[in-house]
Amino acid sequence: MSRPVLVVTGGAGGIGSAVARRFDAQGWHVVVVDRDAERGGAVARECTGLFVHADATTTSGCEQYVEATLAKHGRIDLLHLNVGVLARTSIGEGFDPADYQRMMRANVDSAVFGVQAAFGPMRDRGGGSILVTSSTTGLRPSPDALYSASKHAVVGLVRSLAPALLEVGVRINALCPGAVDTAMLADRRDALVRAGVGLVAPEDVATAAQAAHDAGRTGQAWVVNAGLAVAPHKFTEILIEGEARIQR
Ligand SMILES: NC(=O)c1ccc[n+]([C@@H]2O[C@H](COP(=O)([O-])OP(=O)(O)OC[C@H]3O[C@@H](n4cnc5c(N)ncnc54)[C@H](O)[C@@H]3O)[C@@H](O)[C@H]2O)c1
Repeated sequence: MSRPVLVVTGGAGGIGSAVARRFDAQGWHVVVVDRDAERGGAVARECTGLFVHADATTTSGCEQYVEATLAKHGRIDLLHLNVGVLARTSIGEGFDPADYQRMMRANVDSAVFGVQAAFGPMRDRGGGSILVTSSTTGLRPSPDALYSASKHAVVGLVRSLAPALLEVGVRINALCPGAVDTAMLADRRDALVRAGVGLVAPEDVATAAQAAHDAGRTGQAWVVNAGLAVAPHKFTEILIEGEARIQR
């Protein structure tokens, strides 16, 4: 079989670059997508892969990386939708709607538009797998309420889309890391360490991403915490009278 193809968005740094390196080391073709051309290009060169300079929060940016990958490799086996940012604003005095929308575009639009751009080509080429980076704050409350809401949205999207995507041969899962030692947390790193929060290395998130993909399941939210094996979150099933079974 020819080498499988990974596309990772936000692949210039942090979790995304660790994922690119891990799959490269396992013999995959790697496509790195990022808005940072310098760092993204460097990661792609290191992996002898393709770099696509695109804004992953727009429909045109998502179509651009899907088309560039199909032009070079003819298919996508795993699309890791990994772009995400923290919000600077919060509910209260001085709330900044533009900053809130910037964060929602990065965390939710990038997932919705990425799935929309990729699922058709995956279906037409016999199937594929999509992994979306959420967070443990997508599974529980957090002081970062707006970020947490965006990451809950990602988990809801993944679990709700999974049955329909499976019918066309596409699996979709969420990756839910705890605090990861990347640039995103640079401002908070010292405070987290002082508070005794275990930081996950980006390389360990990449190992978990591969395990989540390899498990062959769909609709799962894979929790990645320091010192613990990656495992799918156990959701509570609820029954509402008169409705089909739903889960929360
Ligand atoms: N670091 C953590 O503690 C942590 C924990 C849980 C989940 N996450 C999630 O993991 C993912 C990766 O985070 P990270 O810590 O590696 O962050 P990071 O800031 O180190 O890397 C994010 C990458 O995304 C790129 N990017 C941002 N906006 C983009 C856009 N519009 N188009 C293309 N590229 C864009 C950046 O240039 C950067 O290379 C995010 O979704 C984040 O929310 C992070």
